[in-house]
Amino acid sequence: LSNGLALTPPMGWNSWNKYGCNVSESLIRSMADAMVSSGMQAAGYQYVNVDDCWQTGRDGAGNIIADPVKFPNGMKALADYVHSKGLKFGLYTDVGPMTCAGRPGSLNHEVQDANTYASWGVDFVKVDWCYNNGLDAQTQYTIYRDALSNSGRAILFSICNWGLYNPWIWGPATGNMWRTTGDIQDSWSSITSIIDENGPRAVGAGPGAWNDPDMLMVGNYGTGAIGGGGMTDTEYRSHFAMWSIMAAPLIAGNDISNLNQATKDILMNSEVIAVNQDPLGKQGLLKSDINGLQVWSKELSTLGTRAVVLFNRSASAANITVNFDNVGLNATASVRDLWTKTDIGSFTTSYTANVPAHGVVMVKLTGTESNSSGPIISGKTYRIMA
Ligand code: GLA
Repeated sequence: LSNGLALTPPMGWNSWNKYGCNVSESLIRSMADAMVSSGMQAAGYQYVNVDDCWQTGRDGAGNIIADPVKFPNGMKALADYVHSKGLKFGLYTDVGPMTCAGRPGSLNHEVQDANTYASWGVDFVKVDWCYNNGLDAQTQYTIYRDALSNSGRAILFSICNWGLYNPWIWGPATGNMWRTTGDIQDSWSSITSIIDENGPRAVGAGPGAWNDPDMLMVGNYGTGAIGGGGMTDTEYRSHFAMWSIMAAPLIAGNDISNLNQATKDILMNSEVIAVNQDPLGKQGLLKSDINGLQVWSKELSTLGTRAVVLFNRSASAANITVNFDNVGLNATASVRDLWTKTDIGSFTTSYTANVPAHGVVMVKLTGTESNSSGPIISGKTYRIMA
């Protein structure tokens, strides 16, 4: 959506994956505090988003009411607090008459709610798809888009209709991001199936418009409000590397006030985040897959460079090879490991690494484009990738 927002994938935190309906003003304030004190803000995280269950009803004039017990000072005061930290504030609603958790939705109140959010200082709105009986998704999200854009405030629009009705086709003109799948769970099988669904949807993604394979589970270890049983640090590293190379929004979904070192190292790896935030805004693509040993490649804004994830989906450690010609580069390239932030050296034709089971090796290749006669996009010449 050309509203000047989300020129790179949005980064932030959302309450749902860890806390479910258990949201409150004190929780959100402490997460805003933690986003600063943990270093996440400095690493690029910006949005502090309240998901479902903040609403209780509507007043006589139809205005949405925030739960006065959970949010005793109201949403304007909470937004002001989040803004005072240099952060941005997000809320959740639904196109239907009710949210997924049965709170009041926005149907027939789209303009009123958008104006209310704007008056509170909301910067991000996620709009869900529960109780959508008889509604047309594109029509309904377009109504919401227009309500937000007429509200007088710059509000990032996050479409959450779970990949139904091809949002990757109409999403780019309608929202800043759109879910491509059902809800994530805290499990290896969940993230691998989401990768398989989200990976082929690159066509509409770019600055201002992103495929959203759902919020992160990194660091939850099975303790969140959502099921799945948890993942290992190796698996969380794969989750984060794949979301980064797919140019997905990086919305943390864990308790960021209590991060262990492994979780910090994943969520705040500056070189991996830089791949996600590369201004060219290309979603990385699957370039080869041999029995679950995958090579993913993302074009970056500097010509002759690629981010590559060697992704081992098998149950044992294995060598995975990226062939430079398969990612559009000439035969010689230097390789830098992005997790360890070390230069590995110069290689000819290919690079091979041993990758742990369910793990990744993530590298940046610096070489030269093997075909510079492609189209001119954003003033840069680069090869079209299959
Ligand atoms: C749906 C969404 C989730 C979350 C819940 C809240 O399931 O997909 O991301 O917002 O609703 O009820």
